Amino acid sequence: MADQLNVLVICGSLRKGSYNAALTRALPALAPPEMKLVMAPTIGTFPLYNADVQDASGFPAPTEDLAAAIRAADGVLFVTPEYNWSMPGALKNAIDWLSRMKEQPFKDKPVAIQSCSQGPLGGARMQYHWRMSMTFLNAFIFGTPEVFVGSAASKFEKDSLELKDQPTKDTIKTDRSSPRKRGPSAVSTVAEFLISIPACAGMSGVKCYPAACARFGKSCGRNFGWPAMVLGA
Ligand SMILES: Cc1cc2nc3c(=O)[nH]c(=O)nc-3n(C[C@H](O)[C@H](O)[C@H](O)COP(=O)(O)O)c2cc1C
Repeated sequence: MADQLNVLVICGSLRKGSYNAALTRALPALAPPEMKLVMAPTIGTFPLYNADVQDASGFPAPTEDLAAAIRAADGVLFVTPEYNWSMPGALKNAIDWLSRMKEQPFKDKPVAIQSCSQGPLGGARMQYHWRMSMTFLNAFIFGTPEVFVGSAASKFEKDSLELKDQPTKDTIKTDRSSPRKRGPSAVSTVAEFLISIPACAGMSGVKCYPAACARFGKSCGRNFGWPAMVLGA
């Protein structure tokens, strides 16, 4: 196993002053030492998915670049806003392009999500739509703890967009040494999940964290995707 987990971070917002982009910038300082977070290339240059374009000229270069980055990563962390109770169109469009590739990059890939919104629920409803798509694509999907950063304007510095809200940092940060023994925090648990999945899936040379394995069981918490069975029809 490499010294550090290589986790690719995909941001679902294209906006310069994005709170989600600000959250991605805050994550490295909150992550455990065994986890290296690398920003994915932007999804903002992807054309709108069109099967005719795919048939005529194949996959656009930016989609291939992102797919390669996902394949090379140990896991993928999405950090994204909620638009109209669902995924932003740009993010869904990116997933749609990648989903059509022969070597579909999310297959068997450990994936997790965090969301940030100016509304009070922090993008919760969008996360379940994302889970549906990731289930269909046969990714290994991280379950809980969930990370929702609501009322974003009050959690980041106005001009620098630095994450200033301590409870949010505490929720995200790994803090195993805390005397308060708050239990596994979000990023450390994500790290354990990302580490344990490949090991449990039978890939060699990857460290297995027994706590995470016990937690997710033999199936590692993977949601079975398809073929789907419809009973009682
Ligand atoms: C098209 C659109 C739809 C939105 N829908 C929601 C929504 O369903 N739920 C929510 O909490 N916020 C919603 N918002 C507000 C976003 O939370 C807010 O714009 C947020 O700052 C976007 O994330 P960003 O700062 O990373 O760009 C919406 C914003 C836009 C532009």
